Amino acid sequence: MAVKYIPEPFRIKMVETIKTLTAEERAQRIAEAHYNVFNLKSDDVYIDLLTDSGTNAMSSDQWAGIMSGDEAYAGAKSYRRLLAAGEDIFGYKYIQPVHQGRAAEKVLFPLLLSKGKYAIANMFFDTTRAHVEIAGARAIDCIAEEAREIQLRLPFKGNMDVIKLEELINHYGKENIGLIVMTITNNSAGGQPVSVENIRQTSEICKKYHLPLCIDAARYAENAYFIKQRETAYKNKSIPEIVKTMFSFADMFTMSAKKDAIVNMGGLIGVKDNDELVAKVKGNTIAFEGFISYGGLAGRDLEAIAIGLYEGLDESYLKYRIGQVEYLASLLDDAGIVYQSPVGGHGLFIDAAAMFPHIPYYQFPAQALAIELYKEAGIRACDIGSFMLGNDPDTKKQLKSEFEFTRLAIPRRVYTQAHLDLVAETLVSIKKRANEMKGFAIVWEPPVLRHFQAHLKPIK
Ligand code: F0G
Repeated sequence: MAVKYIPEPFRIKMVETIKTLTAEERAQRIAEAHYNVFNLKSDDVYIDLLTDSGTNAMSSDQWAGIMSGDEAYAGAKSYRRLLAAGEDIFGYKYIQPVHQGRAAEKVLFPLLLSKGKYAIANMFFDTTRAHVEIAGARAIDCIAEEAREIQLRLPFKGNMDVIKLEELINHYGKENIGLIVMTITNNSAGGQPVSVENIRQTSEICKKYHLPLCIDAARYAENAYFIKQRETAYKNKSIPEIVKTMFSFADMFTMSAKKDAIVNMGGLIGVKDNDELVAKVKGNTIAFEGFISYGGLAGRDLEAIAIGLYEGLDESYLKYRIGQVEYLASLLDDAGIVYQSPVGGHGLFIDAAAMFPHIPYYQFPAQALAIELYKEAGIRACDIGSFMLGNDPDTKKQLKSEFEFTRLAIPRRVYTQAHLDLVAETLVSIKKRANEMKGFAIVWEPPVLRHFQAHLKPIK
């Protein structure tokens, strides 16, 4: 049964027209895009659920901030405002703006990782994994077992497997581990939250072996909301209090501000208390991103992030936001569509392997569902499965992903209940003819992050 749709805690002041193509036009457009949704023109998409990253609707306060952004090269007012917000919310001594999340990874990771080293995470996002590898190191996922039980409704399926973490540290040798990463929420496992207790236990292991703990903080506010709902000790704490607690256990963070800071561009690095590391972060930022007071962004962007960081923590907003995803998922239950449940914070992750059991991982079932969603209704989703995972960097063989998810990511404050209804109807209709669906083969791929650019063809 459908859960109640939580009314929007905002009203709409500005709109953007979207239009639908005919089924024939869509079939032609996706073929021209080599069956890669990243190659589609956005005006050929009706409902764009490719990502919740940078696709958010900013508030009137944020737009006002854009107009008052201080564009001075050094010492700008907007920079100081962002630092104040960052220090206030996260309680870290040093905050560095950068142009997006992967820039934070590019600046920070080579300072901690090099050839022969390993980084271990509850689960790496694709760019995070790529930057571990670009630094010469190897990335190891250490997700708690329960995340693999897609239909099992457990509160914290994003957690690190702390027993395995300690085994891995001992197996590879603590001197060979450069970094432990805690991704909150755990995007690749389905936007699943991590508990404070799990962050605390992970931090204890890090302290025991003298290893740095870095939070990959893209969806930190959604994670805090889940903690308030599901972790008894925190049910009477405010979202800002929970955020402070989560960050208190780590040494540093990288953040894509394009998610929970509700902006279109930006990222942050935070360092709790390590002057030596801060000096190196500044050096890399100046080399790669620009001077430390803007980090590859315009002053107006810094202003919008400073405002958005607070808006993202508003509990009535978070209730509506997570409520949208819960509503969408509830429309699929009667049709027997399997998804990572309970739903994650930023989207619905459909188990495409369950929907298309006849399509093997190397023919990319999650990509097949994404393509069909576009063909059927102009909905753009993406593969978070073997197609995204790619090849082993050493053997070059196709890796088998833990999950074959088709991700429908929900941009913040953008789509309405009727849009979500259409998405659900389309999924139900595809499920009814699931056995007719065919897989895909790659005809061309670049060496890293291939899913953004690869060309595919349908298997006849
Ligand atoms: N970490 C996580 C957990 C992410 O989800 C992302 C981006 C990044 C780091 C990199 O940030 O895009 O600002 O460079 N995720 C987007 C997504 C792209 O669609 O999930 P970025």
